[in-house]
Amino acid sequence: MRHQVCIIGGGPSGLLLSLLLRRAGIDAVVLERRSRSYVLSRIRAGVLEQGLCDILREAGVGARMDAEGFVHDGTIITAHGTTVHIDFKKLTGKSVMIYGQTEVTHDLYDALDRIDAPIFHEAEDVAIHDANGDAPYVTFTHDGKNQRIECDYIAGCDGFHGVSRRSIPDAVRREFEHVYPFGWLGILSETPPVTDELVYSGHERGFALCSMRNANLSRHYLQVPLTDQPEDWSDEAFWAELKLRLPPHLAEVLVTGPSIEKSIAPLRSFISEPMSWGRIFLAGDAAHIVPPTGAKGLNLAASDVYYLSRALISHFGGDGQPLRDYSATALARVWKASRFSWSMTRMLHEFPSEGDFLAKMQAAEVDYLAHSPAAQTALAENYVGLPY
Ligand code: FAD
Ligand code: DHB
Repeated sequence: MRHQVCIIGGGPSGLLLSLLLRRAGIDAVVLERRSRSYVLSRIRAGVLEQGLCDILREAGVGARMDAEGFVHDGTIITAHGTTVHIDFKKLTGKSVMIYGQTEVTHDLYDALDRIDAPIFHEAEDVAIHDANGDAPYVTFTHDGKNQRIECDYIAGCDGFHGVSRRSIPDAVRREFEHVYPFGWLGILSETPPVTDELVYSGHERGFALCSMRNANLSRHYLQVPLTDQPEDWSDEAFWAELKLRLPPHLAEVLVTGPSIEKSIAPLRSFISEPMSWGRIFLAGDAAHIVPPTGAKGLNLAASDVYYLSRALISHFGGDGQPLRDYSATALARVWKASRFSWSMTRMLHEFPSEGDFLAKMQAAEVDYLAHSPAAQTALAENYVGLPY
C-alpha cells in the first residue's frame, strides 16, 4: 500500500489531521491500535479553546458542537477564602466552548466516514522504518495479516505511550519532565452542574474542580494521592470530600448522584524535543503532556495539528519551509501552554512536602489575582488560548 501521509494513532490529533489533509486533497491513512468503540468510550477533556472550535468549523465538523456545546465567557477560581470571577469575554474578547473530547472524536469519525477515509482499527505491532531516509514505511498487523505502508511522511499522533516518539534516536531527542506528587480522581454523573461556570477550587484538603458536559451531566475532579485507586472511593465518599473542598455557598447547592464513570489520572508535565526528525512529525500527547489544570491537553494537540496540516499542505504545494519549521513553531506554543498549566497547578494544589511557605505564596497569588485586572487578563488570555 502507498499513501502520502501515514498517521499513527486515531485519537483527536490523528483523526483531525487526517480530515484536514484529505480535505486538501492529500492522501492520508490512520493506524489505530484500539477499536473504534474503545476510542469513543474514553472520557477525557471538555474545554475547547476558540482556536480549536474554529479549526473544527473549518474542517466541516463544527455544526453539532455549535448546536449542543456551551459557550463559557468566564470561570470561577476560589482558594484560601478568596473567590475570583475571571471574565474571559470582558478581558480578552474570547470565550471557550464546553464540548467533550468524546463528542469531538465522534464528529471526526462521522466526517471521515462520509469521505471514506481509510482507518485501520486494531492495528497491532505498528513499527516505523527508515524515518530518516527518503522512503519511509510503516509495518503492522491487521486481521492477522502483515501489512506495509509506504509513504512520504509519518505523523506520530499516538499519544504518550505510542511508538512514534521513541523512533527518534536517543541522541537526537531531549525530554523534559516534571511529575507531580498526586493525581486527579474524576467522576461523571447525571447531575446538574453546581453553577453555570467551571469552578477551580484550591483547598487545604486538596484541589477540586467542578466541570460539566451539559445541563444534566457533570464532571468533577479531586486531587488524590498517587497511591489511591478509583475503587477506594465510593460515590458517597467522593461527594462528601468535594463538598468539603468547595466554598459553602456552592457546597450547599451541589446536587449528588451515582457516578457513571470513575478514574484516576496522574499529573505530569512532559515535553520531548524536537517534534520532528527526518520524515516523522509528532503531534499532541505523543510529544507533550500537561497537567490537566487549565484544560490545555486537547487544545495543544489541536494547535500542533493546525501547524502540521498547514505545513504538509504547503509542502505538497511546493513550499517546504513551514514543514522544516514545524518543530520550532509548535514547540514555542507548547512551552507557553505548559508553563500556564504548571503555574495553575502550582497555584491551586496541595504539595504536602512543601509546607507553609508555598501555602502563603498561593494565598498571595490568589489575592493578587482578585485585585489585579492585569493578573486576571494574563490568566484569561492563557485560558482561552494563545494565538496560533
Ligand atoms: P490520544 O488521545 O492519547 O490518542 C492517541 C491514540 O493513539 C490513541 O487512540 C491510542 O490508542 C493510539 N495509539 C497508541 N499507541 C499506538 C500504536 N503503537 N499504534 C497505533 N495507535 C496507537 N486534557 C484536557 O485538556 N482536559 C482533561 O480533562 C483531560 N483529561 C484527560 C484524562 C486522561 C485519563 C488522559 C490520558 C488525558 C486527558 N487529557 C485531558 C488530555 C487530552 O485528553 C489529550 O491531550 C488528548 O487526548 C491528546 O490527543 P492525542 O490524539 O494527541 O492523543
Ligand atoms: C475539564 C478538565 C480539565 O482539566 C479542566 O481544566 C477543565 C475541565 C473537564 O473534563 O471538563
